[in-house]
Amino acid sequence: MIHSKRFILYISFYLHFVICCSNTHHNDIFLISCGETNPVKSDDGRVFEPDLANTHLTISPISHTIVSNSQKGVPKILSSARVFTTSSIYTFTTKKLGRHWLRLHFYPVKNNRFDLSSAVFSVEANGITLIHEFAFFRGNKSQHLFKEYVIEVTGSSLGKLVLGLLPWENSIAFINGIEIISVPDKVLSSKVIHIPLGVAHELPVHVGFETVYRVNMGGGSRLSPKNDSLWRNWASDKPFLINPAAARNVSVNPDSIRFHDGVSTDIAPNWVYATAEEMADANVNDQRFNISWRFEVEQGFDYFIRLHFCDIVGSRLHDLVFNVYINNQSAIESLDISQRAKGLSAAYFVDFFTNVSMGSDNIFVQVGPNHLTGYLPTALLNGLEIMKMSNPSDSLDGKLAVNLDPTDIKKSKSIKMMVVVFSCLGGVFVIVLLLLISFIFFMCFRHKKLPKEDGSVGWSPLPTYVGNSGNKFSSNTFGSTTVSHSLGQMISFSEVRDATRNFDKSLLLGSGGFGKVYKGVLENGLVVAIKRGNPRSQQGLVEFKTEIEMLSKLRHKHLVSLIGYCEELNEMILVYEYMASGPLRQHLYGSTLPPLTWKQRVEILVGAAKGLHYLHTGVSETIIHRDVKTTNILLDENLDAKVADFGLSKFGPSLNQTHVSTAVKGSFGYLDPEYFRRQQLTEKSDVYSFGVVMLEVLCARPAINPTLPREQVNIAEWAMIWQKKGELYKIMDPNLMGCVNLESLRKYGETAEKCLSENGNQRPSMGDVLWNLEYALQFQGASCGDADSMRGISDIPDRIPDVESVDIDTISDLESNGTTMDR
Ligand SMILES: *[C@@H]1O[C@H](CO)[C@@H](O)[C@H](O)[C@H]1NC(C)=O
Ligand SMILES: *[C@@H]1O[C@H](CO)[C@@H](O)[C@H](O)[C@H]1NC(C)=O
Ligand SMILES: *[C@@H]1O[C@H](CO)[C@@H](O)[C@H](O)[C@H]1NC(C)=O
Ligand SMILES: *[C@@H]1O[C@H](CO)[C@@H](O)[C@H](O)[C@H]1NC(C)=O
Ligand SMILES: *[C@@H]1O[C@H](CO)[C@@H](O)[C@H](O)[C@H]1NC(C)=O
Ligand SMILES: *[C@@H]1O[C@H](CO)[C@@H](O)[C@H](O)[C@H]1NC(C)=O
Repeated sequence: MIHSKRFILYISFYLHFVICCSNTHHNDIFLISCGETNPVKSDDGRVFEPDLANTHLTISPISHTIVSNSQKGVPKILSSARVFTTSSIYTFTTKKLGRHWLRLHFYPVKNNRFDLSSAVFSVEANGITLIHEFAFFRGNKSQHLFKEYVIEVTGSSLGKLVLGLLPWENSIAFINGIEIISVPDKVLSSKVIHIPLGVAHELPVHVGFETVYRVNMGGGSRLSPKNDSLWRNWASDKPFLINPAAARNVSVNPDSIRFHDGVSTDIAPNWVYATAEEMADANVNDQRFNISWRFEVEQGFDYFIRLHFCDIVGSRLHDLVFNVYINNQSAIESLDISQRAKGLSAAYFVDFFTNVSMGSDNIFVQVGPNHLTGYLPTALLNGLEIMKMSNPSDSLDGKLAVNLDPTDIKKSKSIKMMVVVFSCLGGVFVIVLLLLISFIFFMCFRHKKLPKEDGSVGWSPLPTYVGNSGNKFSSNTFGSTTVSHSLGQMISFSEVRDATRNFDKSLLLGSGGFGKVYKGVLENGLVVAIKRGNPRSQQGLVEFKTEIEMLSKLRHKHLVSLIGYCEELNEMILVYEYMASGPLRQHLYGSTLPPLTWKQRVEILVGAAKGLHYLHTGVSETIIHRDVKTTNILLDENLDAKVADFGLSKFGPSLNQTHVSTAVKGSFGYLDPEYFRRQQLTEKSDVYSFGVVMLEVLCARPAINPTLPREQVNIAEWAMIWQKKGELYKIMDPNLMGCVNLESLRKYGETAEKCLSENGNQRPSMGDVLWNLEYALQFQGASCGDADSMRGISDIPDRIPDVESVDIDTISDLESNGTTMDR
């Protein structure tokens, strides 16, 4: 049975490969008019098909109604709509994998059956929330809501784009028009410049984009889809100019624009490059100022910014050289357009990436003259695009949902995964395949009582999928916080002393460079971990205060919270929440605790990854943990993981000799080799350490175990040898044998490998790691829920490595024990 399952998997991959590859040369174009019965010609000359006429498109369930009403002045495509009273989906079978533009038209058509302007609904596509509880009557938006997104159709969704329309409780949802168009491969490349200038960035793969601005500088009126080979809209820049008097429009004949390597009209039509805003009067007197545009954006999201340039004012090469700023920060210094574009009137573009942190809701773009002499004292910009990127909770609409209940996510995601896999197969081969897989799964699940929702996924999965997404929406707890203590309060020394029975040795949890950590009970009954600074510690009062200030700001369910502090009588005491199950390491080896199941292990890592992701991106300044390891991942009584000992690095003492050597000693085996070489700390150093943690969790052995044969001492080196052979399972914890799903392990191994890349730029972000771990978890959830199964890997390795329970104290010094807030 196991073998036949594996066989089926191979077949499915093979078929998948064949199907995808035979289709890569066709681009998708769906132009759909919802609720129409006849094709509709739009103003720009395109013909939109009725939604029921397209054979590559299904709508489900059928509980929907058509409304239409040809009003004067309303474009034909907006004058009909399909109205849904329950959550429903449109499923498009695309010919091509990869990114697709998804353009949606909503218009509350007046009719006598429904009041569409009072409808409240959400929209999602391939698992990404596009619109969250929108209603026309709320915003004072124009009556036509037009949205453009970029959604990836992946192999794992088997070439489907699934658009969900989810009415809010007792409300309705509707849609008027849908456009889906393949994004040509080169249009969204992966190289982006990070603003503020820093570590080079790769565009994350599994994000959705929403076009928030697409602007043609100096173009006057809107450039309609007619003038764009990919039917994009380009707006005028006038409303965004901060000081219109500083700019003047310039234009040339669009036919004179030239496109060189990599740039084509797919990037932007020649109409965009043929017009620009230039500095007004710059040529007359030697004025120095910037042209500035301001774009309002939603805070708390990452943004992709593309600037289009074309030298349409210079008469010689290298005449036009100027500076570009984004958010008051230098983005390009001395941009020589004609050199970069390889000629005058040649099109050129640059991509940037920036995050708009909480507290600011603007993106500023400025161009201004270079301070160097000998150049035209002017600057110009031809076009601009700003795209919002989906956040780690896969949303493009709504705040950073750092407090989303993870069980909710898990539930809806695992259902989604099942459904994506099950529902998205098509074609004759695949139907046969489906039946086979169904048989196998039936056999596999026969003994296991499935929860109701899983069971009902069955063979008519679509309504369930929608139902669950519906739950996802209604239970979305964006912005709500579950932290119950008031953080960072002052606690008197007498209370601390009472809490620890005058620092009773029996309550000692651990000790480190900073001091000792005790378990204690506050007057209000709260059990806490109390870290008492060593008076002779090198960590002075200033650092202590900075730490309090910073830690008080950090609130996240996967970070150990600071509850209070005490600085009476020259004491430096920090009070943290107590983590009942102690450090993760203790659950892996070197103790008598029962082994964790694979699912528990991955869930713990998911929690820790969320905490680190928050440190890296969730607060206004990136915080690098710098000491990620299994003793700094603490577990509460439910085995939920929290990251401890964070932030110290940023405010810790400068890297004087003692400190460096302490760090190296304490965290040997976790240290990013690049950081070691270049002494340059980035958040990717944490990613490296996290990769080591992942291996430690998989293999249940210390990062460094000097008692092992030489090639096995360092887990990162040893495990990568097996990972490269595709035989990672051979060195995994024997307790996991037989209950790790192959696909889950494959994803896990790949992720760890990427985290351990030599070059920091090649390592994924914590957000990507998180995504991959959740993916690994879903696979596990879908086929092997608990440890007692015989599914998963069937063959027990012929050679089980000697994993001795090594006395942790011999491996690393002070930092190995206890609840460790130590440093
Ligand atoms: C919407 O805009 C109109 C004018 O355009 C204004 O009279 C009305 O008060 C606005 N409504 C809301 C809810 O802001
Ligand atoms: C360019 O600016 C001039 C005035 O300086 C104005 O008359 C003209 O309409 C503008 N053209 C566009 C396309 O905005
Ligand atoms: C759009 O293209 C047509 C020619 O196809 C041209 O006549 C028209 O001026 C263009 N519109 C704009 C706004 O540039
Ligand atoms: C950039 O500077 C302008 C004015 O100098 C200011 O209003 C704006 O808030 C600044 N923007 C950012 C993102 O710092
Ligand atoms: C242009 O803007 C940048 C960033 O806001 C600023 O640093 C620079 O001084 C400005 N240049 C001029 C000439 O005003
Ligand atoms: C987010 O923006 C802040 C400043 O606005 C910056 O310090 C931080 O590095 C940015 N984070 C990422 C992940 O780019």
